[in-house]
Amino acid sequence: MSDAKKVFVRTYGCQMNVYDSDRMTDALAPEGYASTDTLEDADLVILNTCHIREKAAEKVYSEIGRIRKLKDARAETARPMTLAVAGCVAQAEGEEIMHRAPAVDLVFGPQSYHRLPELLKRAGAGDRVVETDLPTEDKFKALPAASREVTLKRGVTAFLTVQEGCDKFCTFCVVPYTRGAEVSRPIAQVLDEARRLADAGVREVTLLGQNVNAYHGKGPDGADWGLGRLLHALADIPGLDRLRYTTSHPRDMDDELMAAHRDLDALMPYLHLPVQAGSDRILGMMNRKHTAAEYMALVERIRAARPDIALSGDFIVGFPGETEDDFRATMKLVEEVGYASAFSFKYSPRPGTPGAALDDQVPEEVKSERLARLQALLSQQQQAFNASKRGAVMDVLFEKPGRFEGQLGGRSPWLQAVHVEAPAELFGEIRQVVIEDVGPNSLVGRLTGDEAAARPSGADGRVAAEAGGRA
Ligand code: SAH
Ligand code: SF4
Ligand code: F3S
Repeated sequence: MSDAKKVFVRTYGCQMNVYDSDRMTDALAPEGYASTDTLEDADLVILNTCHIREKAAEKVYSEIGRIRKLKDARAETARPMTLAVAGCVAQAEGEEIMHRAPAVDLVFGPQSYHRLPELLKRAGAGDRVVETDLPTEDKFKALPAASREVTLKRGVTAFLTVQEGCDKFCTFCVVPYTRGAEVSRPIAQVLDEARRLADAGVREVTLLGQNVNAYHGKGPDGADWGLGRLLHALADIPGLDRLRYTTSHPRDMDDELMAAHRDLDALMPYLHLPVQAGSDRILGMMNRKHTAAEYMALVERIRAARPDIALSGDFIVGFPGETEDDFRATMKLVEEVGYASAFSFKYSPRPGTPGAALDDQVPEEVKSERLARLQALLSQQQQAFNASKRGAVMDVLFEKPGRFEGQLGGRSPWLQAVHVEAPAELFGEIRQVVIEDVGPNSLVGRLTGDEAAARPSGADGRVAAEAGGRA
């Protein structure tokens, strides 16, 4: 039996939380914690939470309830369990979590992750600790990097947070309160981390930020570099064949970024560009600071720069005061754009945001009905987009085992899941594939090169019916 302590991290919410969970695990490695996928095995449980909608936030409390039973059973043993709540619920509700959930030992917000070892020591000494300050020190600099082995184990695609926080204050959104002010990491720091990832075999990096295209990091020349310039520098790193970034705000798509889409082969032709709504009145009330026509003009410019680009978006239905006409404007915009994929949500009033205080909240059943109409249209568009790739020849990055024996799972340049009959050695490689079958949420392809000839084809063009797809 090893006496290494074990940490179990459960991640909710956006990709930034996925990235943060790994960084927390990395920060605990020097403290003797190994990571485990088995809750029952853990000495330390961290719930990395999301506050974006009420449902997301409430999930945490039911999870705490379940874990409490495990924790109670271990209380008098030689291996007591420590329960910590991190992430955006921690930041937003700090003390309230302590009141509502006595089983929680430690609550800490996203800007304190580098202090986790120290906070744990305090919690271990018997205190219940709440740490939700938004400090100004450079958390990223203080967080240790993952070892090469750990990076390798995490796979051939990786997230890399380059910008955090938000100054935009859309009236529905908690992010500016849970993540704090917008901060960009310096160029050298980002390039270092990207090089380390590439050295460990990572082939695709997705740059993350709540407004990633507002990125303006200090460059080695002392000037502020925008995202376009950063992407150019990343594309020069040997081994990094694919670059993506998310999430973008329509107001921050500058010319340099647009040019990067035109000029960089490594920058994948896929852009998540949330618009939220199609009615100018609602956009105004949401404080998005652009109109539907401006968004459409932007889409045209992006498509002119990179004609094969696939667009994805986020939508909110039932923002306070949204009428049937407003909603129809959203449907019209969706029809005009044609999305390859999208996420859509019922408006959820969040405590402390201006939207929650507005009169004219839209009744639940109206929201549900609008969401169903919007999702029907969006999923029709996603299927049409997938169908348009039937017969197409494309590069696929193999990133995981396939669904069936003998298959590998990969991604198309447009972020579609692709299942291909392929030898396991191709894991982590990019190969040309021809698409033979398409489903609502994935494609089935066949290798075109030598490896295909080396194996019996066998592909029966089967696309398993997949549940879900949030769009
Ligand atoms: N920074 C991104 C969005 C981050 S939050 C942007 O500006 O587009 C991710 C998505 O959650 C948002 O795009 C929005 O569609 C949804 N969302 C945020 N707050 C919400 C709320 N109060 N109710 C419902 N959906 C919400
Ligand atoms: Fe939230 Fe708006 Fe900031 Fe996006 S831009 S994180 S929606 S406040
Ligand atoms: Fe949720 Fe926080 Fe991300 S609220 S969406 S985890 S930034």
